[in-house]
Amino acid sequence: MSSLYTYFENLFKEVYTLPSIIVTVSIAVFIAYLQELKDEREREQKKKEDNASNEHDDKESEESEKQEGSEDPAPKRKAFALPSTPLPPPNTTRIFMSDELAEHDGTQEDKGIYVAIKGIVFDVSTKKEMYGPKGGYHCFAGKDASKALGMSSLNVEDCVADYSGLNEKEKKTLDDWFSFFEKRYPIVGKTEA
Ligand SMILES: *[C@@H]1O[C@H](CO)[C@@H](O)[C@H](O)[C@H]1NC(C)=O
Ligand SMILES: *[C@@H]1O[C@H](CO)[C@@H](O)[C@H](O)[C@H]1NC(C)=O
Repeated sequence: MSSLYTYFENLFKEVYTLPSIIVTVSIAVFIAYLQELKDEREREQKKKEDNASNEHDDKESEESEKQEGSEDPAPKRKAFALPSTPLPPPNTTRIFMSDELAEHDGTQEDKGIYVAIKGIVFDVSTKKEMYGPKGGYHCFAGKDASKALGMSSLNVEDCVADYSGLNEKEKKTLDDWFSFFEKRYPIVGKTEA
């Protein structure tokens, strides 16, 4: 009786328990493998998404460089980065006469550098190296240069507020510039109507 019991016990251990342990372990390993596979796939996906958004940022900078006719793209890329601190809310209470706006072209140290687009005045003082007297885009400073921005022109004679002569594509470029500035520079006023 006892030997029969031992026999069955051994049989049970060998035939059932050992395989069942193997099966259980195998299943656990398989599940862990699937989980790892899933995590790996999620990591890949995330990496791809990060890459995609980086590319988007790069493209935006490149486009802006192209539009502003940059001669020195490398430092500009950094210059066009979005501000790290949030912008103050737009304040269009102040109305600028053209002579008043002209004082903000960066030639007067104690005054901010302002650029107006479609009648909205932006404070670009943080980018003095670009819009200040020695900057490549100084021609836009202290005035509404909508027409020149729409045309991607750096000619002083194009730096005027009247953009009615722009074609559809140029008007779109101008709107792109407006959104570009809106994301980066505080709005400090409006030009006289
Ligand atoms: C992301 O871009 C880097 C280079 O910028 C590249 O080495 C990497 O393979 C890319 N990853 C994916 C998932 O596309
Ligand atoms: C907006 O600007 C005007 C004049 O520049 C100033 O008096 C006013 O306090 C500003 N409003 C806000 C909400 O900052």
